[in-house]
Amino acid sequence: MVMQWYPGHMNKAKNQVQDRLKMVDIVLEIVDARLPFSSRNPVLEQIIDQKKHIIILNKSDLADPKRTKDWKVNFEQEGTKSVELDAKHNKGLGKLKDLIRGELSDKIAKYEANGVKNYRIKAMCIGIPNVGKSTILNRIVGKNVAVTGNRPGVTKNQNWLKTDLGIDLLDTPGILWPKIDDPKVGMKLALSGAIKDKIYSPDDVAIYALNFMETYYIDELMDAYEIDRTDLYNSTTPELLMNLTKKFGYKDDYDKASRKIINDVRKLRFGRITFDVPGEFYEE
Ligand code: G4P
Repeated sequence: MVMQWYPGHMNKAKNQVQDRLKMVDIVLEIVDARLPFSSRNPVLEQIIDQKKHIIILNKSDLADPKRTKDWKVNFEQEGTKSVELDAKHNKGLGKLKDLIRGELSDKIAKYEANGVKNYRIKAMCIGIPNVGKSTILNRIVGKNVAVTGNRPGVTKNQNWLKTDLGIDLLDTPGILWPKIDDPKVGMKLALSGAIKDKIYSPDDVAIYALNFMETYYIDELMDAYEIDRTDLYNSTTPELLMNLTKKFGYKDDYDKASRKIINDVRKLRFGRITFDVPGEFYEE
């Protein structure tokens, strides 16, 4: 099924983000570490201009650590620094702070050379829904929330959150929509829970997941569902779904079995899986 996104919504979000970009020194683009490609929106790259920019691979506790490393190298080769974060368990904040200060070292050096004390770095979080923007905002701000209200030259109702890190953070994150030109991207977003379960049929998503695991995480798949390697090789992925449905005791309720498989992926039954493979998207 093809998703319908309204160009009006997209443009409104893009304009809002573009307006706020003018107010910050650095953009923290948040992606889901399980989907470092599919959870990005290329529109940001187009509107970001000369702004400093780093990528936060959030939910790294759910992603395959080896793949996360590969993605960091991939982003670095493209000229963007990235850092992994597990905002839920508050891991990686120190590295994020170091990276922000490193990226803005020229600006900081200028402040210091001019004797400017108590300078503040201005940052904003941007990302598609559900990547963890609000969680990160709360983590960065911690208990030290001090809202510096409307000031001259600052958009009305636009507040800055002061943090211990020497960074002022725009209180509302920028929201961009995912870009779903490729149905595979939609499947991956559905699998991660980033888009509503109702939008894609569960059996399509489960078959996508099984097929991906047969290719990249076959041992984890066989272990989790006690599948024999020969059985796996002798059946197509839809047949595998049918066999698993019976094995789960769900008779021919493929939807129920599909929902279980999707849930098992989300709950790490197969371990930490990353569904985007660097390079995959450039070959097509
Ligand atoms: P958003 O503002 O970008 O839309 O995302 P938000 O912070 O609301 O986070 C969306 C969901 O992702 C929340 O789960 C949140 O707890 C979870 N999350 C955020 N960061 C991480 C992370 O680093 N690791 C993991 N594992 N999860 C993370 P939820 O189920 O909607 O709510 P909750 O019951 O967990 O609070």
